[in-house]
Amino acid sequence: TRTQDDLTRPSATKKDMSEWLVKLEHMFTVTPQRMRMIVDGFVEVLEKGLAKEGEDVPMLPTYVFGWPTGQEKGAYLAVDLGGTNLRVCHVELEGDGKFEVTQTKYRLTEEQKHADGPELIDFCAECLGRFVQDHYADDDGNVILDEPLSLGFTFSYPCVQEAIDHGVLLRWTKGFGAPNIEGHDVAAMFKKSLAKFDVPVELVALINDTTGTLIASAYVDTATRAGIIFGTGCNAAYMEKISSIPKIADKGLDQTEEMAINCEWGAFDSSTHEHLPRTPYDVIIDETSNKPGQQAFEKMIAGLYLGEVFRLVMIELIDEGVLFLGQETYKVEKPFGFDTAFLSLIESDTTDELLTVTGLFSHFYSLDTTIKERQFFKRLAQLIGTRAARLSACGIAAIVSKQGYLEDGCGIATDGSLYNKYPKFPERLGEGLVDIFGEKGKGIRTYHAEDGSGVGAAVIAAMTKARLLAGK
Ligand code: GLC
Repeated sequence: TRTQDDLTRPSATKKDMSEWLVKLEHMFTVTPQRMRMIVDGFVEVLEKGLAKEGEDVPMLPTYVFGWPTGQEKGAYLAVDLGGTNLRVCHVELEGDGKFEVTQTKYRLTEEQKHADGPELIDFCAECLGRFVQDHYADDDGNVILDEPLSLGFTFSYPCVQEAIDHGVLLRWTKGFGAPNIEGHDVAAMFKKSLAKFDVPVELVALINDTTGTLIASAYVDTATRAGIIFGTGCNAAYMEKISSIPKIADKGLDQTEEMAINCEWGAFDSSTHEHLPRTPYDVIIDETSNKPGQQAFEKMIAGLYLGEVFRLVMIELIDEGVLFLGQETYKVEKPFGFDTAFLSLIESDTTDELLTVTGLFSHFYSLDTTIKERQFFKRLAQLIGTRAARLSACGIAAIVSKQGYLEDGCGIATDGSLYNKYPKFPERLGEGLVDIFGEKGKGIRTYHAEDGSGVGAAVIAAMTKARLLAGK
């Protein structure tokens, strides 16, 4: 807590708020030139990941072969274990890029995210079992089916796959930490849980949310070239020629086909720290996270972390005697106690007095703010949100450059709270792409994708079944 004494104490080196802002602007601004350097480094790293196992960005083969036709049909189930919720969906694919989704959401508690792994997977299977019971049981409560229902399981963490219905969890991301899953085949675990609870469902495909986004979007729009999530985490998938994936050259696959790659680009620059302009705040986030040394790129972009970047800047300025003078600040001192949604709110406040910002600080943190402080917060949110979008643009540009999509332009399907809800995020992405590529950058269209984790899982399950029928 600051007192009036601190205010009057002479200090030769003490910066005031506007001097801090200059410093922060410098730290958080990613210039066009810097962006182009990041893109060059990024392209190299993507290629390295395709060549060899164990690279920072793992470039995971997904065993999703090629694009959907848009004519996939039938009823499928999807389970989606993302960052925040567990979702169970019934998806009716109608062909011609059309579909219907019915879904139920279950909120995951922090305990569940860190519970014993098999328990977490059991919970997913139990929720699915309940959903099947609710939607398929006859009047006597019996579920009688001609054949088991086909399921796509969207498990949005890095998994090393050897087949579409297999995937060993490389490591947890996004703050999850349930023990006894890392290093295990999640698909096999899920099948075991399905058998344990007698759920009449067959797991056909294990997929990542980005792959789902890629395929769901391609199901309705053939211009789609990449699927990207800007949510609690941040990651991308795109379609690669199998002949350009040296690390699976010995798998006996048809070299004329294509396969979706789950980049897991959130891990970019994690071990080298040579590409990204990290600030001391990013370093603190990394070091205090449950996975230090991992997901360096994601930690500068994703929804799970942006609020914390903001909070850490606040904390430094409280310690420096610049903010909230004379007030009790313990409520903002709690790690991860400042939600990224608050940055959205601050940026959306267009009133002269920034009244939403006033309300936010007084309501949630019992803090009074001066107009100067509120203006400072708005600028800080802009800096953090803009940096996230511009670094994201670097990732998109890397895929576009590597794949040669710039000449003809292309569609980038995106999903996640940051893209969908954060003010100006899509516009800033677009500006970033123009800063990297010039006017041609305008040919890269980003748009909100279809529900990748639900519809995408269903389309991939349908594609997989069709391949099996064709004897592939
Ligand atoms: C994290 C996960 C990745 C997922 C992304 C978006 O980066 O590691 O698998 O796609 O979050 O949900």
